[in-house]
Amino acid sequence: MTRAEELEDRLRLLVNFGGVVSKETNLGKLLEIIAGQVKTIINCDRCSVFILDRHTNELWSKVALGLRQHAEIRTPFGKGIAGHVAAFGTTINIKDAYEDDRFNPDPDRMTGYRTRSILAVPLKNVSGHIIGVFEAVNKAGSPFNVDDEGILQLISSLAASGIENAQLYESLSKSQLETIYRLAVTAEYRDQHDTAIHLRHISEYSALIAQGLGLPDREVENIRYSSPLHDIGKVGIADAILLKPGKLTPEEFEEMKKHTIYGAKILSNAESALLQVACKVAASHHEKFDGTGYPARLKGEQIPVYARVVSVADVFDALCMQRVYKPKWDPEKARHYILEERGKSFDPAVVDAFEKVYGDILKMHLAGDGKSTIIPGITKEINRYTY
Ligand code: C2E
Ligand code: SIN
Ligand code: SIN
Ligand code: FE
Repeated sequence: MTRAEELEDRLRLLVNFGGVVSKETNLGKLLEIIAGQVKTIINCDRCSVFILDRHTNELWSKVALGLRQHAEIRTPFGKGIAGHVAAFGTTINIKDAYEDDRFNPDPDRMTGYRTRSILAVPLKNVSGHIIGVFEAVNKAGSPFNVDDEGILQLISSLAASGIENAQLYESLSKSQLETIYRLAVTAEYRDQHDTAIHLRHISEYSALIAQGLGLPDREVENIRYSSPLHDIGKVGIADAILLKPGKLTPEEFEEMKKHTIYGAKILSNAESALLQVACKVAASHHEKFDGTGYPARLKGEQIPVYARVVSVADVFDALCMQRVYKPKWDPEKARHYILEERGKSFDPAVVDAFEKVYGDILKMHLAGDGKSTIIPGITKEINRYTY
């Protein structure tokens, strides 16, 4: 390949890279994607992304130990090649790491890897602050050249905003998750023994359906984390009604319906996107597509899509679980009920998405005992607060 062809090839990869990076909101996955792309674009053996932890003044990175094993390595700010780049904000390009006394060989010892050439560039955000370091390691055939430096610096600037977004999103959702599950558990433990399973099912069914519907990742995650709050308003319903073993009288059911309004009130005026979605879901998860639901008799697209998704997940789960007022249904019977209500209670597109992901939903339902690991993060979170 001539130099021109090589550059052209790289530009094509870079255009693709920008698109990929802006879509992923999960930090771990994003870093993996970036590392993979850099290896291809730069034609090196490894790429490590070091992230600056401002609390401890360390850089951390995940290194591969084996096929599926990862270890986290931490380097103090100012130490090692990566620490040096972070401290001084300059690019370092070295032919042989072991000839350079800034190099820290401990990670190599830990992994059995042999580092030769290193190209390390700072990862700067839009305001010019260093948020980490990019290291390309062991260029195939020759040391890293000036073109590689330029390309890696360019990649770094493309990646920085994606990484910063993912970091922000993660820190937000961790503290919010904690609040959310505490609230949700409070709301639901009265009428359900297995609150944790129920909440996890609602959360994961909703996320699966949202995915099946083709909603963007961020919306899927918003639905995943806000759906457990859909019945938060039940905190305002008296035990005599909520825990009544038999059928509710019409008056009692009128009172019960208010859980949607109470929930919307509790979650109103929140600043976070997540809680705004939760508010819509709490308010509208009992609206029906044909306009016969409650509390506002909204119809079709007037019902927020989040609520249209969660209502299918909620009813499927409620049918499959035992309640004080009803025995549990067989999942196949519940599925048929959902299909029958297509276009009546439920948005036809959402029911189609439900059908599409039904295999995964059923697996989740059958796993039931909390050991399923389809989405390990949320299992862990809920377990932490409820078991
Ligand atoms: P939930 O138990 O979480 O049920 C959520 C939704 O699942 C219900 O909303 C309904 O659409 C569906 N669902 C649950 N069980 C059945 C069923 O046996 N058949 C059918 N066709 N659908 C079912 P809905 O009806 O608006 O009820 C909202 C909440 O009101 C329920 O939440 C539950 O907490 C309470 N509730 C409803 N009916 C009764 C009842 O007869 N007795 C008692 N104690 N509570 C009830
Ligand atoms: C370092 O010296 O920056 C850590 C070692 C490595 O990245 O290979
Ligand atoms: C996140 O913070 O977005 C994920 C956390 C988790 O699933 O545990
Ligand atoms: Fe409800």
